[in-house]
Amino acid sequence: MSGIVGSVSAKTNIIPILLNGLKSLEYRGYDSAGLSYIKDGKLIINKVKGRVKDLENNIEKGTYSNIGIAHTRWATHGKVNETNAHPHQVGKITIVHNGIIENCNKLKHKLEDKGYIFKSESDTEIASGLLDYYYKKYQNIDKTIQKFIKKVDGSYAICMLVQDYPDTIYVIKKDSPLIIGKGQDVNYIASDVPAILKYTKKYYILEDYEYGKITNNDITIYDKEGNIINKELKEYQGSDLTSDKGIYEHYMLKEIMEQSTTIRQTINPYINTLEDLLKLPDLTKYTRIDIIACGTAMHAGLVAKYLFEEYTNTKCEVFLASEYRYQNNFLTEKVLSIFISQSGETADTLAALKKVKEAKCDTLGIVNVKESSIARALNKVLYTEAGTEIAVASTKAYTAQVALLSVLALSHAYRKQIFKEEKILKILNEFKNIDSILKPILENTKTYEKIATEIYTQHDVFYIGRGLDYALAMEGSLKLKEISYIHSEAYAAGELKHGTISLITKDTPVFSSATNKHINAKTISNLKEVISRGANCYLITDEDIKDDSFKQIIKIQKVSMFLKPLLVMIPYQLIAYYTAKLKGCDIDKPRNLAKSVTVE
Ligand code: F6R
Repeated sequence: MSGIVGSVSAKTNIIPILLNGLKSLEYRGYDSAGLSYIKDGKLIINKVKGRVKDLENNIEKGTYSNIGIAHTRWATHGKVNETNAHPHQVGKITIVHNGIIENCNKLKHKLEDKGYIFKSESDTEIASGLLDYYYKKYQNIDKTIQKFIKKVDGSYAICMLVQDYPDTIYVIKKDSPLIIGKGQDVNYIASDVPAILKYTKKYYILEDYEYGKITNNDITIYDKEGNIINKELKEYQGSDLTSDKGIYEHYMLKEIMEQSTTIRQTINPYINTLEDLLKLPDLTKYTRIDIIACGTAMHAGLVAKYLFEEYTNTKCEVFLASEYRYQNNFLTEKVLSIFISQSGETADTLAALKKVKEAKCDTLGIVNVKESSIARALNKVLYTEAGTEIAVASTKAYTAQVALLSVLALSHAYRKQIFKEEKILKILNEFKNIDSILKPILENTKTYEKIATEIYTQHDVFYIGRGLDYALAMEGSLKLKEISYIHSEAYAAGELKHGTISLITKDTPVFSSATNKHINAKTISNLKEVISRGANCYLITDEDIKDDSFKQIIKIQKVSMFLKPLLVMIPYQLIAYYTAKLKGCDIDKPRNLAKSVTVE
């Protein structure tokens, strides 16, 4: 989603800093870009519909400035065009903004009554107008910002230039991430750490309702009453910063191919001995586990639900964060709420987490990005070690989440003495051999490419399964639709004939996995029903099935249920990838999607 970069320096040109920062945030998804800087005392704004490269081409070579703010916009209010792109200038105030101003209509009418005229459809222009109005009224920046915080509903990370103070960048934050990077005679602002890592690893994290003033040699942060706050200066510890595509054509392919490494890195601390397994949190005091997440992360939660309920006899519910935050959740101190997020910045997941914390109930997180907003708000966090995921469609983060949750469920089963030690050790041994187990599946690319040639012209594709295989069907279906734009749906296999089977016609592709010997026969009967109606069925299974009526059977190794999701998902990911490639889609940046969904 939208990205913010800002910089103010004593002697370096900040234009390349702004452009490099925007480039490093590109993977998050955006549709227009812009910046504003001060040159010879004059404020200049440059914005384009399109890519950061287009913005760069629009700026005269050698342009020099010591202070500026920049933005990539993922449209929320108003169409994708240059007028709606940021920065927005009203009077003496110029801002870039991430988030949504929820009461912008009311504010707009009030400002229009006072004579303000707005050019764009953007809520950011209204925010800029409101700041200008208070600035003119109070002639005082602190009072202006404090009043703004009181009057505005919604979420905002704002970076602001004020005409009368050409040496200072102002920042304001609520419910949308913002950090301030500290350098030597130069300081930085960004919505996300990668934007500044080329220049500094030291940064402050702004919390909700805080604001700051940044010059080339000073960073001062205030609470909403205007009291100065002494903040801890953080130092980025992560690696994997110069993530590039290597030999691969797309980040998505690279990220799929590195999954045995990322899974191993994630679970390694917990799988070598039985004692290692006990390093994971003790969940025995809870009678119910709630899992809350969005999209693919929620699908990882569905796998965990299956494992917790089937193998640890613990009730587990999975919720979409966007629903959870507005419903009655029946929380007690016996409920553990687990939040799953790759980015650690998803607005709905963060809001749901705040709700659980307000109820004073325990939280645990499975998060990929260290020091992200969600990671910081949790009581306890277990990190997935998937490294930076650049492709918008999540692959290696999902399998890392699934692997970590599987090991967590296994440790719970061990603590509850549901499994004998030998059985646990056998499963741990399989996890230790994950590289060799996944290798043939990752290398089977010819099969996936062939399947892609058979489905890429289709309009509708179905994914079905029972139990764990249904949870996997949901993620398989999402992968295909988000990157190939082919309509696809996932159904519980037994549900098809209650309506959806009417959509099956000649050659409709239907994918399924059958990995549970107790119910495989039922799933296969459901597949036979669609084959009878002309469907082309593709089956991923660990059983020896010889049946010519299937278009393709993808055989995977027999392993414990705790590992099966990992084996099934890789073919689903690669089939989606090769299908999107045949269709010529922008695989790493699918239309309309953003990597980090920081608005509701
Ligand atoms: C799909 C995808 C999304 C994310 C969802 C949650 O491939 O990546 O569905 O899983 O937006 O994002 P995080 O995990 O960052 O909270």
